[in-house]
Amino acid sequence: VAGPQVLMRSAHELAAKLYYHVLTLTEQGSEGRSYVKKRGFTKEQIEHFQIGFAPDRWDALVTILTKRNFSLETMVQASLLGERESKDGYYDRFRNRLMFPIWDGQGHVIAFGGRSISDEKPKYLNSSDSPIFHKGKTLYGLHLARPSIRKLGSVVLFEGYVDVIAAWGAGLSNTIATLGTALTEEQAKVIRRNAENVTICYDSDKAGTSAAFRSAGILEQVGCTVKVAQMPEGLDPDDYIRTYGAESFKSNVIGESLTLMSFKMRYLRKGKNMQNEAERMSYIEDVLTEISTLPRAVERDHYLRQIAEEFSLSLEALKHEQFQIYREKR
Ligand code: CTP
Ligand code: MN
Ligand code: MN
Ligand code: MN
Ligand code: MN
Repeated sequence: VAGPQVLMRSAHELAAKLYYHVLTLTEQGSEGRSYVKKRGFTKEQIEHFQIGFAPDRWDALVTILTKRNFSLETMVQASLLGERESKDGYYDRFRNRLMFPIWDGQGHVIAFGGRSISDEKPKYLNSSDSPIFHKGKTLYGLHLARPSIRKLGSVVLFEGYVDVIAAWGAGLSNTIATLGTALTEEQAKVIRRNAENVTICYDSDKAGTSAAFRSAGILEQVGCTVKVAQMPEGLDPDDYIRTYGAESFKSNVIGESLTLMSFKMRYLRKGKNMQNEAERMSYIEDVLTEISTLPRAVERDHYLRQIAEEFSLSLEALKHEQFQIYREKR
């Protein structure tokens, strides 16, 4: 007899096939198809990422799983079904949603992200953790991206499923995403095992920016070299690609990614008037503090020279100032 985890994996495989079939071939998928069309997903993207649609019914998956003699109780634990409160049966957990299969590192479907196609909340309904799915250890798209990540030695990290899919459409294939939560140390270690260089490309809003700082710290701790991509305020990578196109995304966003220190410098500078002496000095002090945290002398030297040049200060004065700050903070 197959163990519960084996059954859970094959049920996910079956569910993914059902949702894909519904989206691509059936009448019940027509609203999903309009949504996909509106968002501009191509046939290639739908196929590559096995995007599907969960029909607006309570029993589409229940019926199939019952026919195949799956234990429905086990399917509740796998987060595919719910149990009625009256305990007289089961219902499909995902209904009327665009379905993104989530794979483990070997390419088995272990969970789903389901996007609402209407105003219905939540926007994304995701599988709960289960015996086969641990959100904090999983990275969306990793098994598809791995060959390219290994070849390039670098990975682009996004916030959203849709960003990965849009970037793939734009010709980038070393792309993955976290699953709607902050990057965990476990995920960072998985990334490090596959590549040293990481470009963080999160949504350009307050939440995305602070998440980028946090993720960058975790990635550096596990030995990654981090860059951060910049986009106009309010856009996410999928928005950017649809507004400005693939070529602009590759050259102006990914290609112009900032080193982590430059990203911090730009952040510290936000809202400060460099013509005002007090504000300028406070900026320089903040930057000197950041520079002193860099582990390598050549790097510290590089940024000190940059600051010296920009503000016409001597390198000696900056080093002296940095030493003062260091003494004060001790
Ligand atoms: N997310 C989630 N639950 C939510 C909102 C978001 O799990 N209620 C996760 C999803 O994995 C999503 C990611 O956080 O992909 C980023 O969220 P957001 O930027 O709001 O969504 P987008 O990826 O931009 O999705 P869309 O373009 O469809 O709005
Ligand atoms: Mn768990
Ligand atoms: Mn967001
Ligand atoms: Mn987004
Ligand atoms: Mn988006």
